[in-house]
Amino acid sequence: MTQANKPDIKYLFEPRSVAIIGASHSKGKIGYKMVENIVYGGYKGKIYPINPKGGEMLGLRAYTGLDEVEGDIDMACIVVPAKYTFDAVRECARKNVKYLVVITSGFSEIGNRDEENQIVEFAKENGMRVLGPNIFGIYSAGGKINATFGPKDIMEGGVSIITQSGALGIAMIGKTKAENIGLSSIISLGNKADVDEADLLEYLVNEERTKVIMMYIEGIKEGERLICKLKEITRKKPVVVIKSGRSKRGAMAAASHTGSLAGADEVFSSIMTQCGVLRAESIEEALNWCKFFTEIPAPKGENCVIITNGGGIGVMCADACEKYGVELYDDIKTMKDAFADAVPPFGSLKNPVDLTGGAAIEDYERCIRAALNHKNIDSIICLGCEAAVFDVDKLPDMTESIFKDKRNLKPIVFSFVGGSRLEEKIGEMRRRGIPVFPELYSGVSCLGAAYRQFRYSKAQVEPDAVVDIDADTINEVIRGARADDRTFLLAHESSRVMEAAGIIMPQSRVARNLDEAVKYAESIGYPVVMKVVSKDIIHKSDAGGVALDLDNKEEIIDAYQAIMRNCKAYKADALIEGVEIAEMVNIKAGVETIIGARIDGSFGPTVMFGLGGIYVEVMKDVTFRSFPLTHREAVKMVSEIKSYALLLGVRGEKKKDINEVVNTILKVGAILQKCSDISDIEVNPLIVYEEGKGAKALDARILLTKSKVVE
Ligand code: ACO
Repeated sequence: MTQANKPDIKYLFEPRSVAIIGASHSKGKIGYKMVENIVYGGYKGKIYPINPKGGEMLGLRAYTGLDEVEGDIDMACIVVPAKYTFDAVRECARKNVKYLVVITSGFSEIGNRDEENQIVEFAKENGMRVLGPNIFGIYSAGGKINATFGPKDIMEGGVSIITQSGALGIAMIGKTKAENIGLSSIISLGNKADVDEADLLEYLVNEERTKVIMMYIEGIKEGERLICKLKEITRKKPVVVIKSGRSKRGAMAAASHTGSLAGADEVFSSIMTQCGVLRAESIEEALNWCKFFTEIPAPKGENCVIITNGGGIGVMCADACEKYGVELYDDIKTMKDAFADAVPPFGSLKNPVDLTGGAAIEDYERCIRAALNHKNIDSIICLGCEAAVFDVDKLPDMTESIFKDKRNLKPIVFSFVGGSRLEEKIGEMRRRGIPVFPELYSGVSCLGAAYRQFRYSKAQVEPDAVVDIDADTINEVIRGARADDRTFLLAHESSRVMEAAGIIMPQSRVARNLDEAVKYAESIGYPVVMKVVSKDIIHKSDAGGVALDLDNKEEIIDAYQAIMRNCKAYKADALIEGVEIAEMVNIKAGVETIIGARIDGSFGPTVMFGLGGIYVEVMKDVTFRSFPLTHREAVKMVSEIKSYALLLGVRGEKKKDINEVVNTILKVGAILQKCSDISDIEVNPLIVYEEGKGAKALDARILLTKSKVVE
């Protein structure tokens, strides 16, 4: 299928006609339910139930085959058993159907991958695209079509759900309704044999009903395409994601540190952040965020004020704000200016503003309105404990009058704690569409999500960083290794690659014999390090092939003889090419970091940065990004590790050369991107010196792809 004969995704969401192949006369069957939902949902296009017996179904003529239908068909829902599915797809091809919605199970999810692939290939060759198989269907408010076998009453609204799990998706239709959350669409992806998230986002990005998109993801197939789409859409509307499968299994199979640190989930999380996607921890959190996004205006600034009648919950809320990245406003002049008339003299005008336990509902209203009217305040969190004069019966009307006031263009979150009467009122407020939460952390988490979206969508668009490296030299090194039938580079080859990318390594030379070793040590200058060079010995330290801190000629001679002896004992038939003599670097003068890059199975080229050295695998203080990336994102990457303070300088130490770290990340990423034979790069440790003094890569390991890419 070429771009030219690919049907527009709009026909999946807004088909002008739909056929149901496998439409059943029996009420209990999925094929009946599909027709019923389409009819009941008020679909305005043409409906063609297809059943070998023909007849009539819910007042519609049932056709014995697609060939009998006269008009064009945009979408065909296939609800026949797996063994008849390919025949149905062939029928669709003859009729030039655009989208196939394959409900049927029994394909790759049970190992029947070949038939699934054949169906998709055939469909594509015939200009058709496949949603599914193994799905519950698609609902689209834009097309006024409920082509699912889920509930027939779907509440219309601003949330679009894309789900890989069918059962969860069907449950979500009921759950959203119970939570008073309206849907603009819900799409089941099932085995994702063809149409995937990126295709659907193509439509949703400009679809006006959709205010927020929620995705439930189990696995990613074409990550690079998805990244591009997500980066585009999150500038316009929020995307909330829930991902299952935090398994480390894939990571264990990886060959390098970078690989074993790149637990699939950490990579996923980091890349979602890079794309501006909001990752929720649970279904409840995701739904809370989605509801919030459809109900509240977007923040216009960072200044948030808490209004409370209890000091304790005020402090807890301040903790929650820190956790979720909500900035509390603390300009005391503005606070006095805004609240002096609304807060009693024994209350607090500092943030959290404390109305004290004697506050009545009217006091709250006055204080909230004061915050809404002040130009320096951008968002409000209103908290309350059910105290003596706190009349819970008045809460729904008070909160509604504030929240639904058209002049209120600021986000506001309510959270109240109290007895069963209050709980009842909270339920009533939620039904009225007021953003109220029984647990303040849930409310602040919503505001935090709104702020992350605000910052991402407002950040200036920046092009990806472009780094100049000498790719010709690197490819020449790779060709040498390939000629030697290796899928890894030797230390001196890796050093050449680093040099070609402008990454500084300690001075080093490969000595073929003892005389050369002495000569090179003296020209580099003592102290030096000596390492064995042998393609048969990868773990040099384990083989006793490394000697550190050699200070003079005698120590060189001793070390050379010891290394030769140890390595022969370690692997008698190892071919030893010589030893590498390198400048001995003072590790203590800087901070040890690690930089890696690898081709991730889901997302393609990725880079990693973290705290390095011997504790790297214990600490796992690392972060990831997809590559290419912007300079700003590389800076953010460096600042988000837990040990960032070490780079800023602790206990009177000077700040380290963070710029050089950022440049090295970009260079390592560029090597991977421009030299397609490379699968893994690991620079560990990269010693980062004081600001302005650069960084040095002490070791670099480079692995090649199993099969040759560049000739
Ligand atoms: N063209 C048109 N109609 C046909 C054809 C054909 N080539 N072949 C059969 N039919 C008709 C049948 O006559 C029957 O109609 P009838 O009941 O009036 O006689 C109808 O199609 C259905 O065929 P059945 O053989 O009765 O199949 P059944 O309904 O039992 O199952 C189904 C079909 C639902 C597709 C099943 O094979 C299946 O895959 N079920 C699982 C679906 C699923 O769970 N998907 C994932 C959802 S996500 C989640 O997990 C919730």
